[in-house]
Amino acid sequence: MLAIIGGSGMTRLSCLEISHRQIIRTPYGEPSGPLTFGKIKDQDIIFLARHGHGHTIPPHAINYRANLWALHSLKPSHVIAVASVGGIRADLTPGRLVVPDQIVDYTYGRNFTYFEGKDQPVTHIDFTLPYTQQTRALILQAAGNANEDIFDGGVYAATQGPRLETAAEINRLEYDGADMVGMTGMPETALAREIGLNYATIAVVANYAAGRGTNVKSIPLKEIYAVLEQAMVGVRNILEHVVNCHGD
Ligand code: HPA
Repeated sequence: MLAIIGGSGMTRLSCLEISHRQIIRTPYGEPSGPLTFGKIKDQDIIFLARHGHGHTIPPHAINYRANLWALHSLKPSHVIAVASVGGIRADLTPGRLVVPDQIVDYTYGRNFTYFEGKDQPVTHIDFTLPYTQQTRALILQAAGNANEDIFDGGVYAATQGPRLETAAEINRLEYDGADMVGMTGMPETALAREIGLNYATIAVVANYAAGRGTNVKSIPLKEIYAVLEQAMVGVRNILEHVVNCHGD
């Protein structure tokens, strides 16, 4: 069973034939909403809207631990996270898709680990390659089969939000090696590794990052949703092909 976490621009999955929804409680509280169960081309899928069905939960208030715990309890073979980003690298223009291979964490004040509590032994995880290689490969193969252009690799900078960045902050992120910037990649990616989920991200470039491309003086927020809506057509096409590859 494949799990999909939808981000901004994907609060539901229109290609999913829904069978039921289920509220799952976890030791960490409630996920962003009920999990949606259904099928794409006869394959079982679980879908979770990261920001809630009505897109009401901002990035810093998402209960990432509950979200991933709930998915983990259903033992999915892979978790594919869809997340919108601002493009920093010149070729990451609005509408482009990327499967990042690295991440840098600039978030703070979020519940970022399962390994805490006075009776818990100190536990470290290896995070050299933060995304699961097999899950990345599955997405890339599916994109190839679906004839959708997608970049293989890139560094995702996870910022706190909910405000967008200043142009100087984007310069700093670029200096740090970042190719794209988003607000939800962490702690989601690290928590997935902590509980052993096969996890990778499809990043959807919604806008040029602050100070980049045509956004030298400001980011036209109204345009972001139109870009995302268009780009999600490609993402859905890839997800349908992931289901095909996955069922092989
Ligand atoms: N910055 C941070 N997160 C984002 C952006 C951005 O420019 N665009 C979409 N998510």
